[in-house]
Amino acid sequence: MSLPKVELHLHLEGAAPPAFIRGLAAKKKIDISGMFDERGNYAYRDFWDFLRVYEAATEVLKTPEDYHRLTLAVLEESAASGVIYSETFVSPDFCGGRDVGAWREFLHAIREAADLAEQRDGIILRGIVTPIRHFGPEKAKEAALCAAETAGDWIVGFGLAGDEKICKPKDFSWSFDAAREAGLRLTCHAGEWGGPDSVRDAIRDLGVERIGHGVRAIEDLALVDEIAERGIVLEVCPGSNVALGLYKDFRAHPIHVLRERGVKVTVSTDDPPFFHTTMAREYRMLAEAFDWDDGVFADIARTSANATFCDAGTRNKILKKLEKADA
Ligand code: ADE
Ligand code: ZN
Repeated sequence: MSLPKVELHLHLEGAAPPAFIRGLAAKKKIDISGMFDERGNYAYRDFWDFLRVYEAATEVLKTPEDYHRLTLAVLEESAASGVIYSETFVSPDFCGGRDVGAWREFLHAIREAADLAEQRDGIILRGIVTPIRHFGPEKAKEAALCAAETAGDWIVGFGLAGDEKICKPKDFSWSFDAAREAGLRLTCHAGEWGGPDSVRDAIRDLGVERIGHGVRAIEDLALVDEIAERGIVLEVCPGSNVALGLYKDFRAHPIHVLRERGVKVTVSTDDPPFFHTTMAREYRMLAEAFDWDDGVFADIARTSANATFCDAGTRNKILKKLEKADA
């Protein structure tokens, strides 16, 4: 719980506590049937059904003020888990329907909340603009234009989430090129529902320096070695992979083997309430599964800090905090 943590892979809407969405839906009189189980948790059958529930939750999050409150709630939870720095995926698709003016308003509200949380808990937040793969390449272009318009000290990266089985990475190369030209650093979900080829394509066709998940690279050890050699960072979310049925439990998860083979692995929660997890729980489950001690987690936190997309000053501030905790 108390170990300082750096989280690189967190979907803002996916981090919404169920009670938060229910409360907002009641106020707005929005129908949320089929989203929750009898205990009030998010209910889904598999990854594709998870995407349906995720998108239903975004129907409740309609205004900049909703995102302001959401950001405060999410960061409170992260800080309670010991997270000192977080990068969150934010989508112009959900925040203003890819209209640049509306997007700016949502972003302003999110940043204001992040500032408040930083003053309150010391936690630092940065954003990665993330179009949704199954919405298609044309909508991703509009999202990339929103990203380019707002690239800077807070929007620091560009990514791609959603259904990995729809389209190929190269279908999004225009968007990734535009984001790169705007100075944004790049990541892409791959190797979660797609195999090693999906990871290879994302690296080759989009030029990303981080991969969201990437764990199925383990099915091709030559690829694992290439990832290690090139220093590509994997944003690994073990609890997410287990909850969605990719691996039967933490002990069966390849994070340990990837790390042993020299891959830069980091640890994140993805969509914590959906997967009944927190950063503290991820650490605890990994410690139990692989007998990892504080030294391993300190190493992972350092790897994560070095892989952040923020400016060097902020990165050094995080690294100093980690160093102090080690001492
Ligand atoms: N969006 C939210 N969580 C996701 C995941 N695990 N994979 C792809 N897209 C997502
Ligand atoms: Zn994700």
